[in-house]
Amino acid sequence: MSSSNLKKKVFIETLGCQMNVADTERMLGLLDEIDYTQTEDREQADLAILNTCSIREHAVDKMRSYMGRWDKTRKPGSLVALAGCVPQQEGTKLASDMRTADIIIGTHNLHRLPDLVLEAERRRELNQINGIEEAFANKGVYASRPQVAEIWEELPEDIPETPIFRKTKYYAWVNVIYGCNYRCTYCIVPKTRGVQRSRPISEIVSEVQNLADEGYKEIILLGQNVDGYGLDIDTKLATLLREVHKIDGIERIKFLTSHPCDMTYELIETVAELPKVSKYFHIPIQAGNDQILKRMARRYTVARYMELINYIRKLMPDASITGDVIVGFPGETHEQFMDTVKVIQDVAYDACNTAIYSKRPFTPAAEWEDNISLAEKQERIRFLNAICTEVAEKQALRYLDKIEKVLVEGKSVRNPNRLTGRIFNNKTVNIECDPALHDKYIGAFADVRITRTNPWALRGEFV
Ligand code: SAH
Ligand code: SF4
Ligand code: F3S
Repeated sequence: MSSSNLKKKVFIETLGCQMNVADTERMLGLLDEIDYTQTEDREQADLAILNTCSIREHAVDKMRSYMGRWDKTRKPGSLVALAGCVPQQEGTKLASDMRTADIIIGTHNLHRLPDLVLEAERRRELNQINGIEEAFANKGVYASRPQVAEIWEELPEDIPETPIFRKTKYYAWVNVIYGCNYRCTYCIVPKTRGVQRSRPISEIVSEVQNLADEGYKEIILLGQNVDGYGLDIDTKLATLLREVHKIDGIERIKFLTSHPCDMTYELIETVAELPKVSKYFHIPIQAGNDQILKRMARRYTVARYMELINYIRKLMPDASITGDVIVGFPGETHEQFMDTVKVIQDVAYDACNTAIYSKRPFTPAAEWEDNISLAEKQERIRFLNAICTEVAEKQALRYLDKIEKVLVEGKSVRNPNRLTGRIFNNKTVNIECDPALHDKYIGAFADVRITRTNPWALRGEFV
């Protein structure tokens, strides 16, 4: 390997969900093969990549503002790439819209990134050789920008295994299923991530075994519909959990995101039974009213959702449950909204993400009349957030004065006298600790007494 100062530098900004975080780790792994090393300083980067999200209009606006800012402050001669869900949704026509992007790549052909980068480098050099003056700076909008764009409509038949450069040392995200077969009427994900495709158990087990050998202690199995794992290859998530559970060295296992339709009693029983699996479930409900759920094409009722919650609570009274809801779906009446409020209180979420409905291109709901004013939606979400906070605050109290086994992940970004980690049930805890002792704890499990709680995180001290 060449020495690091000879290497080119890549900076990646990740927007969106854990899928994108995992893809960023793959991009770093792939780029290492063509001698790019990671930098945290974008203005020094030879290649800056924006890994985009398109779940809501706001996320797309963010892309535009980043791109404008980046072009003004980039290192002369550097390349800028757009990756992730916006290109996958928009296709190569995005190139003419985002004229300061040199490389445009979708989610389905991520493994092609090194080739596209090399191609952009080659085109830029050719322009320089041909004496195009701006080509050296490679800044601003002009015709000689490389603009290498490649987006695949489908995931490749065999999704290539790619090298992964993990940013985290003690816990790791492991993709187990790609895509989503649901067609929720508001959601862009089926368009940006394609159809459901499970990885074979053997491949996942060998990846996790390697992680264990490298000293990782926790893994998080990842999928847009993780409960759908295996349905296309004649197996299931419960079976995968059992296999992964056998791997020595891995002490904690989580999985997300769950879909109420594919979550089974057997899965809940398996989680309850396996000691290394966190008693933690992320199960978005989206709405607390059956008519709205039907129009969202969620394919379950509130009663069915509550059945699952009750079974979880029956087997694991202390389980942590989190969710997502959408506010102001087209046609949502005030009464229907209040049903959502009630469900949040009934479930007693440890945390619940809320978002105002955002119209997405190519989705059925985008055709429907959006009859709720923005002011009304904002009022509803404000009210709902207050409820979520209240519920989460109450839920957090059950940890007070308890001793929790914490995987210490690193220093707190906000306070140098604190470490941060997670309890078994996934909640974040900040721990008071003399900086001289930090190295002793980071990356290890430790018993922590919870001394304070708030709706978002816990505070504790080592016992
Ligand atoms: N696969 C998961 C969710 C993936 S998207 C599931 O089925 O629940 C993550 C969250 O973004 C969703 O749970 C939803 O609450 C929110 N979301 C998705 N599309 C949205 C839209 N058009 N407007 C507002 N929020 C949306
Ligand atoms: Fe989107 Fe629905 Fe699939 Fe979740 S299950 S990713 S909300 S289409
Ligand atoms: Fe966003 Fe794509 Fe995830 S749209 S939420 S980054 S799958």
